[in-house]
Amino acid sequence: MSEESTLCASSALHVLLLLVQQSELAVPLRSLQKLTKAQRRHHTSLTNELIENMDKKATWDRFYTENGSKGQFKNFEWFFGFHSVQDLILPVLQSMSHSQSGPVNILDMGCGTSALGPCIYKTSSCAVKVTCADISSVAVKLMEKHANSTSAQPCNPSSALAFLELDCTQLRGYFGARSLDLILDKGTTDALVRSKEGQDKAGQILKQCLQVLKPSGSLLQFSDEDPDARLVWLEREVRGATLAADVGVQELGELRGVSYFCYQISPCTSEKVSK
Ligand SMILES: C[S@@+](CC[C@H](N)C(=O)[O-])C[C@H]1O[C@@H](n2cnc3c(N)ncnc32)[C@H](O)[C@@H]1O
Ligand SMILES: *[C@@H]1O[C@H](CO)[C@@H](O)[C@H](O)[C@H]1NC(C)=O
Ligand SMILES: *[C@@H]1O[C@H](CO)[C@@H](O)[C@H](O)[C@H]1NC(C)=O
Repeated sequence: MSEESTLCASSALHVLLLLVQQSELAVPLRSLQKLTKAQRRHHTSLTNELIENMDKKATWDRFYTENGSKGQFKNFEWFFGFHSVQDLILPVLQSMSHSQSGPVNILDMGCGTSALGPCIYKTSSCAVKVTCADISSVAVKLMEKHANSTSAQPCNPSSALAFLELDCTQLRGYFGARSLDLILDKGTTDALVRSKEGQDKAGQILKQCLQVLKPSGSLLQFSDEDPDARLVWLEREVRGATLAADVGVQELGELRGVSYFCYQISPCTSEKVSK
């Protein structure tokens, strides 16, 4: 256990990076909290600072800066990558594309440096317009630079890929009402609901999502939070929203002992993704 380096670290971000580097595949936020609980005797203030500030741009800019300077760009995935959810996402895109003429309009909300958005762009046989948005300008620039340097070709020639620096509590300022088909959230709401001042932001984001989604659209939250907690939170937030919505969940399975879920939030008139 490299406690020394952790203790010497000048910022809580190093604790996160250390934990991240110890886990090869994924970063379940829940086990992050478990690990940090065990270390709390030693790192109370550091870990608290970290978990409390997962809603802050500065936290994430520092997180993504750590590696940005270290040569080769590498996508970083929370929980899991595109391959784990492609069988869920691609059929949804197909069915959405059949019921409309233009490209399927997709937002990866809080994309970080995940390959999820670029992979959808590369893999989807139906036309998609993928926007990868994050509050961290560092993450967005890394993604854009990488996309520019690789200039990956889409499966469908009409598909488009864009990167956007955006605070997703302000979605309405950027996206028109009822303009998006699918919003993907992998770990973003998880980070917000677990931080000190993030709960309200997570609620705001959910409400804005409902406004910018088409009536036939859906928000998918990929999460390691238990339905006992997340469904209660979602139901409560949806009740407080002006637009009615259906909330559902499906279990995605287990990875390294952690269960993952996909929460689906859809404006009431729409059909559900899961059977
Ligand atoms: C747990 S990470 C997940 C990153 C990415 N989705 C993935 O799967 O690897 C949470 C992300 O949410 C972003 N974020 C936090 N608050 C945000 C906000 N208000 N608007 C947009 N992005 C935000 C952070 O910068 C960070 O990249
Ligand atoms: C940083 O780089 C290491 C080594 O390549 C990698 O394992 C880790 O996932 C990277 N972290 C981020 C935040 O990109
Ligand atoms: C990526 O390419 C576009 C179009 O050529 C350019 O406007 C943008 O500045 C580039 N971004 C980065 C980060 O290099």
